[in-house]
Amino acid sequence: MLSNGTSNGSSESNVDRAEPQTLNITAATANPRLFTLPWSLPLVKWSEDLIVNLPRGISRHVVRFVRVGDQINAMKEISYRSAVKEYEMLRSLEKIDVPSVKPIGVVAGRHGVDGQPLEAILVTEQLKFSLPYRALFARNLRADTADRLIDALAVLLVRLHLQGFYWGDVSLSNVLFLRDADNYSAVLVDAETGALYSNLTDGQREYDIDLARTNIIGELMDLHSGNLLPSEVDEIEVGNRLADRYHELWDALTGMSSFAPDEMWKIEQRVNRLNDLGFDVDELEMTTTEDGTKINVRPRVVDAGYASNKLLRLTGLDVQENQARRLLNDLDAYRTSTWRQGEELEVVATDWMREVFEPTVRRIPPEYRSQIEPAQFFHEVLNHRQEMAEKIGHDVSTPEAVEDYIETNLGEYKMDSQAIQSILDEADSGVMDDYDDYNAEDDPDAAVWATE
Ligand SMILES: Nc1ncnc2c1ncn2[C@@H]1O[C@H](COP(=O)(O)OP(=O)(O)O)[C@@H](O)[C@H]1O
Ligand SMILES: [Mg+2]
Repeated sequence: MLSNGTSNGSSESNVDRAEPQTLNITAATANPRLFTLPWSLPLVKWSEDLIVNLPRGISRHVVRFVRVGDQINAMKEISYRSAVKEYEMLRSLEKIDVPSVKPIGVVAGRHGVDGQPLEAILVTEQLKFSLPYRALFARNLRADTADRLIDALAVLLVRLHLQGFYWGDVSLSNVLFLRDADNYSAVLVDAETGALYSNLTDGQREYDIDLARTNIIGELMDLHSGNLLPSEVDEIEVGNRLADRYHELWDALTGMSSFAPDEMWKIEQRVNRLNDLGFDVDELEMTTTEDGTKINVRPRVVDAGYASNKLLRLTGLDVQENQARRLLNDLDAYRTSTWRQGEELEVVATDWMREVFEPTVRRIPPEYRSQIEPAQFFHEVLNHRQEMAEKIGHDVSTPEAVEDYIETNLGEYKMDSQAIQSILDEADSGVMDDYDDYNAEDDPDAAVWATE
């Protein structure tokens, strides 16, 4: 039976709903192929050819990436109650547009061939191009990688808190990272312990920060003992950095500032600074002091994504914030070099897409198309073009830079299957699996699925 999810995503009664006794898929958008999957087998027993080997972070539950038609879904085997709770939480987060993985559905009422009930499965969209932090450390040993990941996590935490989301389990294992020009951006992956409030108290926020700090230090120490952390990285310092960055950002976004009536330009300066941090200001709350000598201003910040919204409007490209800034700069340079400053930006942007962006990203070799986002490739090529020009002392054409970049540097985006396997083994090392002794041989249908 398929019920198209009609819940509003926050109703408690749904969580208390009794678990269905027969196979039941609740999904926001139904992919009929979901029905062809071997739900009567524990996830660990699903045949290799259904499973996609992409790096995963450490988890408590069994998590697998599964090919469903031309999509890849993440499946997490978990109690019915938790699956429904997390599904509804992810639906709510999707509505308020914070960076989190997209929920697809909950599969419940599963039974093994022996008739024994099996746990439910939460299905989410596998976030394309995303990497768990361990995969980043396995191949990218820049000393400041840890710092840049922490900065991304601080931005995510601030964004979530601004929306009233209390996470309850902040850690590097519960986020995914996307390359974002020379930085990273972080996306929430595990919402199991989260809750949405209209406003968070300072105590709730501090609790999240404190737990994040403790978890991060532990996770980095773990990397250290596996020789994956550059030796100059100090785990405690990195943990503290999260708290510092968080507070700095939170204050910039929510703090009240006071101005004299003839200092209105300072308000503009503050708004510009918030834009530079990537946040949009929706409205300003202004109050004058009783004696009228000061104006208190508090911006109402809506969300990060200033540059990416602008680029989306101009070109339809939906990319990360720093990537968007880089692309907008290139668009600007294109406008100047073609002497079109007086023309509508929308019109110039269309030509830039056709003449500059698209021909460049079409050159991504097929085997890398699932490894690097087009906007990131474009950014890397711009960096490379700059480096080449500096080295040889004159301008280099973009096609030349593309060729050279592909030949010399693109390799860093590829991961060999052995490295992925060791990350997956590690990811599964802490899983508490109830179905270890489940014997798929007893299942007459298993052989059929295995050959599908
Ligand atoms: N939608 C998804 N896209 C990409 N990776 C995912 C997705 N869902 C889960 N993962 C991967 O699986 C790991 C474990 O998922 P998580 O929800 O944290 O499980 P657990 O509740 O057992 O901790 C994550 O760290 C992430 O690497
Ligand atoms: Mg987790």
